[in-house]
This record gives sequence, C-alpha cells and structure tokens, in this order.
Amino acid sequence: MTSSDVARHTVLQSLGGLKSCPSPQPGKEDKVDDSLRCLSINGRVGFENLPDQLVNRSIQQGFCFNILCVGETGIGKSTLIDTLFNTNFNDLESSHFHPNVRLKAQTYELQESSVRLKLTIVNTVGFGDQINKEESYQPIVDYIDAQFEAYLQEELKIKRSLFNYHDSRIHACLYFISPTGHSLKTLDLLTMKSLDSKVNIIPVIAKADTISKTELQKFKLKLMSELVSNGVQIYQFPTDDESISKINSSMNGQLPFAVVGSMEEVKLGNKMVKARQYPWGIVQVENETHCDFVKLREMLICTNMEDLREQTHTRHYELYRRCKLEEMGFKDVGPENKPVSLQEAYEIKRHEFYGERQRKEEEMKQMFVQRVKEKESILKEAERELQAKFEHLKRLHQEERMKLEEKRRYLEEEINAFAKKKAASELLQNQPLNASGPSVKKDKDRKNSSFM
Ligand code: GTP
Ligand code: MG
Repeated sequence: MTSSDVARHTVLQSLGGLKSCPSPQPGKEDKVDDSLRCLSINGRVGFENLPDQLVNRSIQQGFCFNILCVGETGIGKSTLIDTLFNTNFNDLESSHFHPNVRLKAQTYELQESSVRLKLTIVNTVGFGDQINKEESYQPIVDYIDAQFEAYLQEELKIKRSLFNYHDSRIHACLYFISPTGHSLKTLDLLTMKSLDSKVNIIPVIAKADTISKTELQKFKLKLMSELVSNGVQIYQFPTDDESISKINSSMNGQLPFAVVGSMEEVKLGNKMVKARQYPWGIVQVENETHCDFVKLREMLICTNMEDLREQTHTRHYELYRRCKLEEMGFKDVGPENKPVSLQEAYEIKRHEFYGERQRKEEEMKQMFVQRVKEKESILKEAERELQAKFEHLKRLHQEERMKLEEKRRYLEEEINAFAKKKAASELLQNQPLNASGPSVKKDKDRKNSSFM
C-alpha cells in the first residue's frame, strides 16, 4: 500500500456514511425509506471524486495521533515507542524517586512519504514508585479529562478554530504489564478500570523476551480472564469493516500483545534486523514467532489508527461532553420527554438561575436582618450594663467626694484652730519684758535666799 492508498483508506473509513449508502443499480430506483429516494444518474457528474478531494485535503492538513504510555519506571515504554516509529525520540530515563506520578507530553512531527503525522507521546513518570499507590492513577485520569476539557472549551467558543486546533486528546493508551507470569497487580486493575471509559486501552506485556513461550500463553489467558472478571473494557479492533474484519477479529483473540523493543540492529544472514542479543541467541523484534511487536505495529498504526481517533471522538469524548453539559444543566428533552433546543434549555436554565439567585438573595437578606437584630439586642444589653456600671461608679464617686468634702471641712477647722492658737501664743511671746520683770526678779530673789 502506498501512503496515498493508506490515506484514501483512512478517509473512506471515516466516511462510513458513504460506504453504507446502497449503490443504486443503473436504471433502477431503490427506495430506502419514505423520505429518501435513491435515484440513478444518467451520466458522469463528478462527485465520485469526493473521496479523492478529501484524501488530498487530509494529506495537506496532516494527521494527529496521541499515545499515552502507562507503565512502571523502566518497563520499556520509550524503547517500544522508538521501535514502533523507527525513530530515536531520545527520551531521558526517569528516576524511581518521584513523590507522585507526573505526565510528560512531547510532540513530534513525522513524515512518511507525503503523509505528515503530528505525534504526541505522553509518558507516565514515576508510575508505581510511590509507597502508597492509591492515588497513582488520578493524575492520569486528570490529564485525559484536561485534554477533553480543552477541546470542549474550543468547541464552545463563539469564534472556534477547530480546523487548526492542536487536538491533544489521547487516542490510544498502551498499558504496559510487567512480565511476571503471575497475574495483574491491583494497581494495574485499578488504573485500567478508571481509564477504560475515557481512553482506548491496548494492554501489552512488556519485555516479553523474559518469559517462556508456555508461561506467556498461560499469562495471556490469565490476564484476559482477570480483565473480564473485573469488568475492564479494553479496546477491541473493529470488525464492522469487511476489508479488515478478519484480521481484526483474529487479533482481538491474541490480546494482550507480548512485545519486545529494541533499536539495536544485528546482522542476520545478509540483512540487518532489530533484535536483542543474549549469550544464548538473539530475540528478533520483527519476527512474529519471537513476539507480537509486528502485530501491535500493524494494528495500532497501519490498520486501526483512524478507528482509534474516531472512537476517541465519538465514544470517549462524547461521554465526557455529555456528562459535562448535563452537569451544567443542559438536557436534550424537557419534563414531558419533549425535545428541548439548546436555546430553550439555556432559557430554562437562566430562569432557574435567576429564581435561585432571588431566593438566595431573599434568604441572605432575612439572615442579615436577623443577624442585625441579634447584634442590636446584644449591643442594647451591653449598653444597659454599661449604664448601670456608670450609675454605680457615679454614686461611688459622689460618696467619695462627699467624704473628702467632709474631711476638708474638718481639716480647715483644725487649721483655723491651730492658726488661732498660734496667733495667741505669738501674742503672748511678743508682750514687753517689763510686764514679766518683777515676777522674774521675785523668783530669783526667792532662789538666792534659800541658798543662804
Ligand atoms: P522510564 O522512562 O525511565 O520510566 O523507562 P522506560 O519505561 O521508558 O524504559 P526504557 O525504554 O528506558 O527501558 C529500560 C530498560 O529496559 C533499558 O535498559 C532497555 O534496554 C530495557 N528494555 C527495553 N525494552 C526491553 C525489552 O523488550 N526486553 C528487555 N529484556 N529489556 C528491554
Ligand atoms: Mg522512558
């Protein structure tokens, strides 16, 4: 198949409507339903070229494909992606010491013949490295939702530019399972379960060269039965297109693919092959008896890339969009199961919103008035208490003042009495000496006579 054949096939796949339309036999009217009459045309008109026009436009526009690799650190994610696209993406290896899971997205522009592919690889960094693994899958769910949300926001814009919008929604999730030969880990089950309604999961058994052939067969069966019994929906290659239904249904029976990755080239006979070398021999990546790498590449890239893109849009994104719009209050049918247009739904919602707002406003007003009343009565009580305190203090103050007044009066009287006494004594001292002379002389004479 040349690249334009691939593009044509892709476009025809996406034009499911054209394929399913019954082609009218020349000269025969084919009635499909009451409103649709299939007519034959009498000569060439030219709309048979429509698929070619679409192919040309798609080639000009280029394609976009986004892969999410979920798997433990060092499980072989980067090596497998390099091998799948035959390119060295030079992804740096990550450490085992990340406190939580982080998603790292890198976009590349690839070209094969004239077909351009904008490829985004999203890697989980630190997945499975935390002691508490409970929240390991939440960042992955959040990342997928964030890409859906970005697309929905673009779709809801008045001025949309979906034509050149870089669609970052995840089209395929390669889930890397450790080749333990035992069973799925709880983390694997929980993660796949929380992702299966959001993304097309393709489980792969990583480093399949480390498990023997018989163990691998048993392991595959065990994994599938565990997935089924836990209700995990993995991506099924579509079987409705006759040209690929046989190969796809056979591949559905071989899931999960056991893969080996390597960019190392080894000389085998006179050609170079991608392989992993061991002391006892080599494992050829592209040898279908050694591993399922070719099956994965064929199914993921050559045959079902467009279906993966379509499923992402029509199934996973649609579900996200529906839930989101319902959450916002939009509905397709009214109370009596009558269809409601977007405008009607918007009007109903607006009315509900205004009603609700008014109710809330009224409630808040009531609450405010109530609170003000409560505050007022508290303040009044406080005022009453303060007034009583003030009166009491005033009384005390008055009593104190009266006592002091009394004391002052008493002291003043004492001062007056003292001043009078002092004045009297001063008067006595200031009387002339002669007034006191003869009595003093008489005293002296009396003393002298008693000595003799
Ligand atoms: P991080 O990005 O650091 O999480 O690692 P990763 O998952 O991208 O793993 P990476 O591809 O870096 O491979 C880690 C190691 O595993 C390297 O030494 C690879 O050579 C080896 N490896 C990769 N694929 C295979 C494989 O299929 N089989 C075996 N045996 N080893 C592999
Ligand atoms: Mg890596």
